[in-house]
This record gives sequence, C-alpha cells and structure tokens, in this order.
Amino acid sequence: MQADAKSLGLNIKITSGYRSYKTQETIYNNYVYRDGKTNADIYSARPGYSEHQSGLSFDLNSISDAFAKTNEGIWVNNNAYLYGFIIRYPKNKQNETGYKYESWHLRYVGEKLARTLYNDGDWITIEDYFGLDSFYIE
Ligand code: DAL
Ligand code: ZN
Repeated sequence: MQADAKSLGLNIKITSGYRSYKTQETIYNNYVYRDGKTNADIYSARPGYSEHQSGLSFDLNSISDAFAKTNEGIWVNNNAYLYGFIIRYPKNKQNETGYKYESWHLRYVGEKLARTLYNDGDWITIEDYFGLDSFYIE
C-alpha cells in the first residue's frame, strides 16, 4: 500500500504501530491527566483495550483531524480496503465504536471483509457488522 501510494506521489508512514500494555497505559494516563477520563475515553483506549496492542492496528502520518483532508488521507480512506485495511473508527460512528472519527487509524481485517466494510465509501463498523457493542461496562 505504501509503495502504491508512493507511485502516486503520496507519502504514508506508520507513526504508531504495535504498542505494549505499558505503552498504552502511559499514553492513556497522559490523556486522562490532560483532558479528564470522560474526554480521553472517546479518543484513547484504556490499557488492555487498544487494538494497537493486537498488532493489527496502526496510525498513519499525523494523528490529527487534518489528516482526513490531505491527499494522503483521502487516498487512504478510498483505497485502504484494497489492501485489507479498514478505517476502524469512521466518521459519525461514535455511537457504535465508542470513539470519535480517526481518519489515520487503520486495522487489518483482510481484503474480503475490508471491501464489505468499505461499503463503497459509506463505512460499516465492525460493531454494526458483527452485532457487537464496544462500550466499557464501567
Ligand atoms: N486511539 C485508539 C482508540 C486507541 O487508543 O487504540
Ligand atoms: Zn491508532
């Protein structure tokens, strides 16, 4: 995917990939300290719950809302499924995923499921597709 992007003049790179429990704990605690738990919980996973810990998820380029509007962000949104990746936390799906839109956060699910979830650009969440909810019990 990175090589194909590059051939189109687009630069994508992983800025955060696999994280250990400890790393996620540090990241999450820093956000809680900065923003409070209620706010942190809608953009950062509690340690033990981040898909970064599975090794299946990663962040591209800038971990920022601005990424969605860059040429890279637009291309990734429309093409990542061809490589088996999904936008794990799509726009306007916080009620399903529990998280705000993260245009930069991808998860590998394989090409077949990725195509289904891409849904011609109208992303279906994992929660919706599998009938799950991802909310914390407390
Ligand atoms: N930002 C995502 C939700 C994570 O912390 O895994
Ligand atoms: Zn991420």
